[in-house]
Amino acid sequence: MHPFKIPFSRPYLSGNEYRYIEAAVQSGRISGGGPFGKRCEMLLSKLIGSSDVLLTSSCTSALEIAAFLLDALPGDEVILPSFTYVSTANAFVIRGMKPVFIDIHPDTLNLDERLLESLITSKTRAIVPVHYAGVACQMDEIGQISSKYKLTLIEDAAHALGGTFSGRPLGTFGAIGVYSFHETKNLSCGEGGAMVINEARLLERAEILREKGTNRTQFIQGLMHQYTWMDYGSSYALSDLQAAYLLAQLESFEEIQRKRAQIWNDYYQELRFLEQAGHLTLPKSIPQAFSSYHLFYVLLPNKEERDSLMHWLQSHGILAVFHYIPLHNSPMGSRYHDSIRDLPVTRSVSERILRLPFYTGLSRRDQSEVIERLYEYFQ
Ligand SMILES: Cc1ncc(COP(=O)(O)O)c(C=O)c1O
Repeated sequence: MHPFKIPFSRPYLSGNEYRYIEAAVQSGRISGGGPFGKRCEMLLSKLIGSSDVLLTSSCTSALEIAAFLLDALPGDEVILPSFTYVSTANAFVIRGMKPVFIDIHPDTLNLDERLLESLITSKTRAIVPVHYAGVACQMDEIGQISSKYKLTLIEDAAHALGGTFSGRPLGTFGAIGVYSFHETKNLSCGEGGAMVINEARLLERAEILREKGTNRTQFIQGLMHQYTWMDYGSSYALSDLQAAYLLAQLESFEEIQRKRAQIWNDYYQELRFLEQAGHLTLPKSIPQAFSSYHLFYVLLPNKEERDSLMHWLQSHGILAVFHYIPLHNSPMGSRYHDSIRDLPVTRSVSERILRLPFYTGLSRRDQSEVIERLYEYFQ
């Protein structure tokens, strides 16, 4: 049995997952680039409004392909938030690049675009904004700065499928946008990801990189009789077994998003009193952003209060957690970061953030219990 009555996250089944997996198994065609994968790519293209979408084995894989496409020289720099998942940095670090960590806004927890220009050097090649929780970064300013300095924009939209900025889907502003279908994401297939290529010249090479450095994708499309080694690459394709599962989820995207929006809004409305009373701070957005409703967090006044509330909830069977340990202070990140340059907002937020149970199938009863326990704690 699960040690927590109300888990932090739980995969959602939309109905057709088993049927589609069975069909994939029976077809005898379960490697990458198969028919279910094609259908997923078509649906994603429709959703994002962009024709060049590639499924990958994870968002990490998609980031690694994006980093390959930069053709960076050792020591070239990439600007990214320290308040993000390891892969946002590691994908570039394994290509010999140096991550330059930028601080975040205290309200949206997205990178603070006002600091960008001060971090750009002659070695800067790319900016990687992360749309935290599915709320857009300030894409107008970030886009202007990246054009001004001729930098490549790679959007980490791991949280953000379905989110928009000024009505335009997140992931479509940069040269490349990447998404995650990891177990905890809005849509999932265990481990999985996708990338949208918004610069057509990058597409063919991205397909080769994804297929172990071969032109297998063109072979599958019937464009050649055999395939061969063309370039660098790795095993970044999503198996058709997982694509079958993902297709069921994608077909239910609207329903999933509707449920998540409801749960998010219920938390927001019902916790407002605690914010007004000064106990905690609720998530903030910007007027141009429409959220993908990926996660729900609250900010406590300090680390002691955060830890104490987290343990209180856990002692009542409710798993609330925090993330991210700032990358710039991690054993690996500190090798790259000048310790004198403090990132005060990142440091403070990572000590004060608490993520509440949030998943598509969270029942009204369980959500009410989380909310009641929060009120009980502060009374
Ligand atoms: C912002 C961000 N980027 C990238 C990733 C990596 O995604 P994946 O687990 O699909 O490789 C994550 C994972 O949660 C993430 O939160």
